[in-house]
Amino acid sequence: MMRALVTSVLLAAGLAACGDATAPSGEPPRPPAPMEDASTPREDATVPPPPLEDAAVDAGTPAYPFPLPPGFPQPIVPKDNPLTAEKVALGRHLFYDKRLSGNGTQSCASCHEQERAFADSRPRGVGSTGQVHPRNSMSLANVAYAATMTWANPVLKELEPQANVPMFGLDPAIELGIRGKEAEVLARLHAEPKYPDMFAKAFPRDQDPYTFDNVVRAIASFERVLISGRSRFDRFQYDGDTNALTAQEKRGLELFGSETLECFHCHGGTFFTDAVTDTTSPSGGRKFHNTGLYNLDGKGSFPLESRGLIEFTGVASDMGKFKAPTLRNIEKTAPYMHDGSIATLEDVVEHYAAGGRTITEGPNAGVGAKNPYKSSFIVSFVIPAEDKAALVAFLRSLTDESFLTNPALSDPWPR
Ligand code: HEC
Ligand code: HEC
Repeated sequence: MMRALVTSVLLAAGLAACGDATAPSGEPPRPPAPMEDASTPREDATVPPPPLEDAAVDAGTPAYPFPLPPGFPQPIVPKDNPLTAEKVALGRHLFYDKRLSGNGTQSCASCHEQERAFADSRPRGVGSTGQVHPRNSMSLANVAYAATMTWANPVLKELEPQANVPMFGLDPAIELGIRGKEAEVLARLHAEPKYPDMFAKAFPRDQDPYTFDNVVRAIASFERVLISGRSRFDRFQYDGDTNALTAQEKRGLELFGSETLECFHCHGGTFFTDAVTDTTSPSGGRKFHNTGLYNLDGKGSFPLESRGLIEFTGVASDMGKFKAPTLRNIEKTAPYMHDGSIATLEDVVEHYAAGGRTITEGPNAGVGAKNPYKSSFIVSFVIPAEDKAALVAFLRSLTDESFLTNPALSDPWPR
């Protein structure tokens, strides 16, 4: 409730700041509504907020000026890793540095490409040794606001511990595969002539700044500035530019915010996801939903390799529950869903229109719409083909070209 209030105040402030407090002319389409905690049905898991000291954050102004677009609240920066320009610069170099993998073939950017909003185009991640990850790589746009990290992990809440997962993941070498090669990797970093100065400036108080803890701090700092909020939708919504969206896209926005389609319940607010947190709501947004993607046995089962929140909680009704990803830049991050099993946005819309996916043959056959753990917001709907096209057109208006091409976020290493 608290969050809903805060978000609507921010939305209002955003509109007022552009000098035109009235909604854009014509029939004003509804902005994506903030999520309403009170109306969240029981079957959508909200993980209880962490204890207070856990949620302690530096609510003051970060040392580094965030390039925040209109409507964006201050993100949370952990007290023990204040943001500085020097850490961001070092983190950018490390994020793109292939020496940061066991066999020197991959960097974070191998699966998180800027032109794809820091996701990739494979159905599932492929690691440095060619091993396939059970899940689809995720966009890192606005990841500073993510309440939890990855598709379905309620306890991984910060970017620093998350960065350790691809580097040192237990499943041998599934991503960067550094485990067992720590000294070798640090030696490679030591050998790079650019790094002594960068490490020293980023961590001026450390005798030996070359540690994996510092590597992680720097990478997380770079990830925090991956801010995306300058799409055509934003110009329409926050700058009052009524011509920034076409009539078709405005129709799509209206459908997106409608009670018929229900999209906004899980993909509402500034970030088009309910899985967000910021300085005004430090413990909010740890939410997971089952969208009826599978139903292998008629009892709600998902394929063994990726079953969602249940893998952590062991609670039967958490089967198939995943984080609702941001829809910003969504046209760039195909294929879709936690396992990349839906190829196009048109097919995603068909999945929702059917109230869940039906798979007719093969090991994953089943009627997703009848999944007993499916969220009550996933309801089938019948709308004309032109409305489906309008919805997809609206989703495409969320692409922020300036983010995808911003030289400050690009690969700093010479090719
Ligand atoms: C082999 C491909 C691959 C590499 C390399 C990789 N990632 Fe990922 N990344 C993924 C996949 C797949 C997921 C989803 C994981 C899951 O749900 O279990 C993910 C998820 C994430 C998330 C969570 C985003 C969110 O919104 O919850 C962050 C943050 C992230 N990666 C950062 C990094 C960083 C930093 C590095 C380098 C240290 C890195 N990744 C290297 C594939 C990769
Ligand atoms: C009950 C909450 C909920 C509702 C309602 C909902 N979604 Fe989702 N959405 C999710 C979740 C959770 C996922 C990820 C599911 C998975 O991977 O298994 C998702 C995934 C997506 C994706 C793919 C994202 C990606 O990065 O792969 C798109 C696109 C999308 N939803 C659009 C929509 C649209 C359009 C609507 C309305 C017709 C809608 N959603 C309604 C929760 C919801």
